[in-house]
Amino acid sequence: MTEKILVTGALGQIGSELTLALREIYGVENVLSTDIQDPANVEDPNYETLDVMNAEQIASVVEKHEITIVYHLAAMLSATAEKFPKKGWDLNMDSLLTFLELAKDKKINQLYWPSSIAIFGPETPKINTDQNALTIPSTVYGISKRAGELWCQYYHEKFGVDVRSIRYPGLISWKTRPGGGTTDYAVDIFYQALEEGKYECFLSENSALPMMYMDDAIRATIELMQADPTKLSVRTSYNLHSLSFTPAELAAEIQKHLPDFEISYNPDFRQAIADSWPASIDDSVAQKDWNWKYEFDLAKMTETMLANLKEKLAIS
Ligand code: NAD
Ligand code: SER
Repeated sequence: MTEKILVTGALGQIGSELTLALREIYGVENVLSTDIQDPANVEDPNYETLDVMNAEQIASVVEKHEITIVYHLAAMLSATAEKFPKKGWDLNMDSLLTFLELAKDKKINQLYWPSSIAIFGPETPKINTDQNALTIPSTVYGISKRAGELWCQYYHEKFGVDVRSIRYPGLISWKTRPGGGTTDYAVDIFYQALEEGKYECFLSENSALPMMYMDDAIRATIELMQADPTKLSVRTSYNLHSLSFTPAELAAEIQKHLPDFEISYNPDFRQAIADSWPASIDDSVAQKDWNWKYEFDLAKMTETMLANLKEKLAIS
């Protein structure tokens, strides 16, 4: 049977790349990209407007396109959600429950929903944070992601819903800019390094955070969704490790390519969010269950980002 896939939030940082990767596997006609934007503003041969706060519209799109698998990415990220806590909670929670209900009613067969390192909090051990470490998040985004994880596990255990999830670290990519996260500095820095030769960072120089290059994140997502369900011991969300660095370490790596690049530090409200998150993650459960292994280290990620962004920004 040919799978029919729906991606929500498909115009975002992850969705824009995940949609392309899924279309390589399943074909353009079998992967419907959706987001809140009007189609007139979107160049995509298989795109529809879908507001994930509208449960009726979701049910109708799922039925019309005979959708079997949903990648539900639309959400409000950490920094924006701190400014609009109730809106962030509603968007992140209500939309997940709509899809979990559709899966419970067998309208779809499989659901992917991303969680985040934001589920951990200030009391969680920061180094090599364990899959089952303490989760008392201090941000509304983290609270919504942890609650979402528990809902996923509940629907799996009570109703047999095949929902799978990864706790993404901060994702670094060059195709689409990130939208409202605390880890966005690790993308912004590359644009500013190439365009201005300098960058003022909104986190302090020693704020180590878990990060990952987008190609690894997309591969992980698809590998998890294609994994043997009997091997999956986690139905909340999997820890995933790849990179861990501070702004100063990233700046030093960029300086290997751009020796004149300068960084300065002016921490804002996002510093408190970063301070509440782990510095590095233990992903031994993901390695064991579905053979996860990252490919991009700091050097390879930096080289790839600079090469691709130079071309994108037409910088010689
Ligand atoms: P993003 O902000 O880049 O994209 C989110 C998309 O959702 C946007 O295109 C936006 O237009 C859309 N959207 C917002 N409200 C909507 C609505 N009501 N209906 C339909 N679409 C709506 O986010 P992203 O970075 O691509 O993140 C995708 C998912 O991955 C989110 O659940 C996020 O929490 C999670 N995640 C991302 C990161 C990261 O570093 N990017 C890390 C951890 C988890
Ligand atoms: N990159 C995301 C954020 O900063 C982590 O979930 O919000």
